Amino acid sequence: MAFVHILTKDLRPGMFIVQTGETWTNRPYLYAKPGLLKTEAEIAEIRKQGFIEAYYDPEKSEHSKIGVEDLLSGRLATPLPEPTVSLQEEIKAQEENYNNCVNYMEHVMEEARSGRIDYTSAKPLMDGIISSVNRNADALTSLAKIKTYDEYTFAHCVNVSIFSVTFGRYLGLREENLHNLGLAGLFHDLGKMRVPPSILNAPRQLKPEEFAIMQKHARYGLEILSQIPNIPKAILAGVCDHHERYNGTGYPDKKKGSEISPFGCIISVCDVYDALSSKRVYKEAMPPSKALSIMFGMRGESWQPGLVEQFIKMLGIYPVGTPIGLTSGFKGVVTKSNPSAPLYPTVTICKDRNGQKIVPPSSVDLAQQHEMQIVKALSSDTVDFDILTLITEGKDVPKRP
Ligand SMILES: [Fe+2]
Repeated sequence: MAFVHILTKDLRPGMFIVQTGETWTNRPYLYAKPGLLKTEAEIAEIRKQGFIEAYYDPEKSEHSKIGVEDLLSGRLATPLPEPTVSLQEEIKAQEENYNNCVNYMEHVMEEARSGRIDYTSAKPLMDGIISSVNRNADALTSLAKIKTYDEYTFAHCVNVSIFSVTFGRYLGLREENLHNLGLAGLFHDLGKMRVPPSILNAPRQLKPEEFAIMQKHARYGLEILSQIPNIPKAILAGVCDHHERYNGTGYPDKKKGSEISPFGCIISVCDVYDALSSKRVYKEAMPPSKALSIMFGMRGESWQPGLVEQFIKMLGIYPVGTPIGLTSGFKGVVTKSNPSAPLYPTVTICKDRNGQKIVPPSSVDLAQQHEMQIVKALSSDTVDFDILTLITEGKDVPKRP
């Protein structure tokens, strides 16, 4: 993991400061004496001496001493690693793993009805997700939004797990915590299997008494998972808290602010994002940018200040895999984000202004030209080309049924 840049005002005991090799003349305000920060007094002295910035190594730091508030505020956020494998290659490699995860969830949720679940099989699946995020973080997050399944609940659990692992890594969580966070994401809606199907699958707004039954799924999930010997408490807390809201309006316990577990906060953001941007029997899939703008409006109320802003920063305004319309009337899909200019990602264009195929589809870095820009993100339901094939093969073929 790369070293993380931090302002000395944000230093905390437990952080391991590193020497980056930069000289005093280049960075006169950089504190670079390597070692573990042990006390607040030590940090106060560093600030008193006039140092403004430092770098620390998350791997060598003692995370138990770094506050949860620090992680969730995004102060310790670090860019996701540069891909070591191309998007095309990683998506192709992960399609089967993604399907395996969905099949596992279907199997586990059936088991949940009887109260016992196959927990151990989830661990290798989680290893697969974490190592894929390390190789190319865009692959699984785009696959999660491109693949469509008739059964929403199972794919939704897998998607929330993928987004939680990616977001947790971005926020600065270490690998062992990512593993548990991903499992909590995978199992967050396990308790839904105890909710009657007539309520769970109702294609309409629930009546108040039905909604009260639906809300019980958070605690049902906790009950089912609690039967697993030695399951980490952080997983249980994440599952139980995933519908709690920062301002105390959530459920099941109306927890507020820091009473909500960190995993609960992270999963909550990912849960809402996937729900808004997924197709359901009663609604079209919302384009990611629209979902993110709605979530931005919920900041500070549903989630603590800074958290959803970090999620948006991580995904970008037009996440990889988003179908888009351009000023020229052309259509295509985002294939590479541009963190320094989020409105100008790289896109693969496959349709001209008359809806005719562009052969072969062409890749355009929107930051490198002035003729076109994105007018809007499109719903994946409304485009007539297969997004996955366009990304992985560079070919425009009709959407798969
Ligand atoms: Fe839920």
